[in-house]
Amino acid sequence: MNHPAWLDNAIFYEIYPQSFKDTNGDGIGDFNGIIEKLDYIKELGCTAIWMNPCFDSPFGDAGYDVADYYKAAPRYGTNDDLKRLFDEVHKRDMHILLDLVPGHTSTEHKWFKESVKPERNEFTDRYVWTDSIWEEPTGYGSLRGISDRDGSCMVNFFSHQPALNYGFYKPEKSWQQAVTDEGPKATLQEMMNVMAFWLGLGCDGFRVDMAGSLVKNDEDGKGTIALWRQVRDFLNQKFPDAAMVSEWGEPDKSLQGGFHMDFLLHFGPSHYNDLFRCEHPFFAGDGDASAFVAKYLENYEKSERKGLICIPSGNHDMDRLARTITGDKAKIVFSFLLSMPGAPFIYYGDEIGMRYVEGLTSVEGGYSRTGSRSPMQWDDSVNAGFSSASKEKLYVPMDESEDRPNVKRAMEDPDSLYHEVKKLITIRQQHSALQSLADIRFVWVKENAYPLAYIRENAEEKILVVLNPSDKEVAFKCDEVSAFEELYRLGGELTVQDGMITIPAVSACWVSIK
Ligand code: NOJ
Ligand code: CA
Repeated sequence: MNHPAWLDNAIFYEIYPQSFKDTNGDGIGDFNGIIEKLDYIKELGCTAIWMNPCFDSPFGDAGYDVADYYKAAPRYGTNDDLKRLFDEVHKRDMHILLDLVPGHTSTEHKWFKESVKPERNEFTDRYVWTDSIWEEPTGYGSLRGISDRDGSCMVNFFSHQPALNYGFYKPEKSWQQAVTDEGPKATLQEMMNVMAFWLGLGCDGFRVDMAGSLVKNDEDGKGTIALWRQVRDFLNQKFPDAAMVSEWGEPDKSLQGGFHMDFLLHFGPSHYNDLFRCEHPFFAGDGDASAFVAKYLENYEKSERKGLICIPSGNHDMDRLARTITGDKAKIVFSFLLSMPGAPFIYYGDEIGMRYVEGLTSVEGGYSRTGSRSPMQWDDSVNAGFSSASKEKLYVPMDESEDRPNVKRAMEDPDSLYHEVKKLITIRQQHSALQSLADIRFVWVKENAYPLAYIRENAEEKILVVLNPSDKEVAFKCDEVSAFEELYRLGGELTVQDGMITIPAVSACWVSIK
C-alpha cells in the first residue's frame, strides 16, 4: 500500500471553517481567514490540517449534508480560493485533508431531487429505497411520503441526510441491491470522481466521515472493507500519495480497507471518554484509565501492533476538553496526546484552553455540539479578533466570559497551555520513538489508580512516559529504569529507587531510558 511519509510524524490541527477566522465581515469564517492564520498553525508546530466539510450545502448539519461535492460553499470562498489554500499550505511544507462525506448527501443534492422522481432515471438507484412506501428499511430511519416515488428512502444520520446506495453485503429483500449491482457501482464511481477532483486541485487526502457505514447489513464490515480497498487501488494508480484517515473506530477493519489511520471515537466501545469526558475523567485526577488501555491494546493487537489510531484533543462533535479539564491537568492531557502512537489531532482552540460555551441554542444541526463550535479567540479586539461583524451576525455566539483565553495572551504568557503544547510538539518531533509508528508498551496501569506509565520504543530509543494527574504522589514498580535522561517534565521530579518509580502529584514526565 502506498504510504505518504509525512503522515509518520504528522500533527494535525482540526479547523472548523465557519469559526476560525472571518475576513469579509459576514460573521462566518472563510478560506482567506484560514490562509491568514496558517503561520500561526505552523508556529504551534502542527504539520497538517483537517478541515471540516467546506462544500455547497444547506447546512442542516454544518456541511455534513452536501448539496454539491464539486463546489466549495460560497460562504467560504470559491474553488479557486480553496486551491489557493492548498497551495499556501504546501508552501509552508504542510498538508491538508478535506472532509469527505460519502455516506449521505443533503436532500437538496441534485442526485436526490432526481432520485425522488417516480420515473426511472440515472439517479433512481443512487440512494437506498424500498420498493413501497409501506415498507421501511429496518434498523434505520427513513424519508417517507416526500414525493410520488413509491418507496421509503433510508437515512444515514439526520433525516435530511438520505443514505447513498453502495449496496447490501447480503441482500435479503427485493429492494436491497448487491454491491456489484449497477446502482451501487455507479455511486462508488462517482465518489471516486469526487476524490479525484479535489486531489487533482491539490488536497492531500481525506478524513472520511462515517467510513464504516457505507455497505449496509454488513455486520463484520467485510463489504465496506472491500469497497475501500477498491478506492485504495484506484488511488494507488492515480493519486498514490493520497492520505486517508477514517472515522471508523475499528482500526483492524479500516487498515484492511486501505486507510492509513483511524480515529479513536468518543462513542462506541473505545473508553475515550473515561479519560477526558465523563463524571470522573482519568485526567481530571479521580478516574480510571484501565478499561481504555485494555480496549486500546485489543485494537493494537488486532491491527498488527500498528498503533494507527489517532487520538483527538476534541472535535466538533464533543464537549470542549476545558469543560472537564483545565490548568496543569490540561497540560498533562497534551503530554499524553503528544506521546501516543498515531497522529495527534488538536481541535482548534484546545491549545489555548477554549471553553465550551454553555446555554446556546443549536446552530446548523449542532445541538449540544454548538458550544464546542464557537469562534476562535485570537486577541483582545472586537469579537476576539475573529470577525468585524456585529455580534448578532456571528456564526455561533462567542464565549462572552471576561477571562476567556485568547491566542495573543497565551503567546505572551510563558506558562500558558499554548507554550506547553508547543514545547511538547517540539520534543515529539525530535524523537521518532514518540511518533506515530514506534511501539507502545504499558508498564503500569491499574483500575482506579495512578499513574499511567508506558514505554515508547523503536530501534533508536526507549522513552518512558509517566503521567500523574492525581492530587497525590504515587509510586509503582518498574525494573527497566536505572539511569535516565529527562526529556520533558511538568511539576516535580520523577525519582527511581530499588526498582520503584515515584512521581509527585499533578505531574508528567518523559524520560529517555536507552
Ligand atoms: C460525523 C461528523 O463528525 C458529524 O459532525 C456529523 O454530524 C455526522 N458524522 C454525520 O455526517
Ligand atoms: Ca466570512
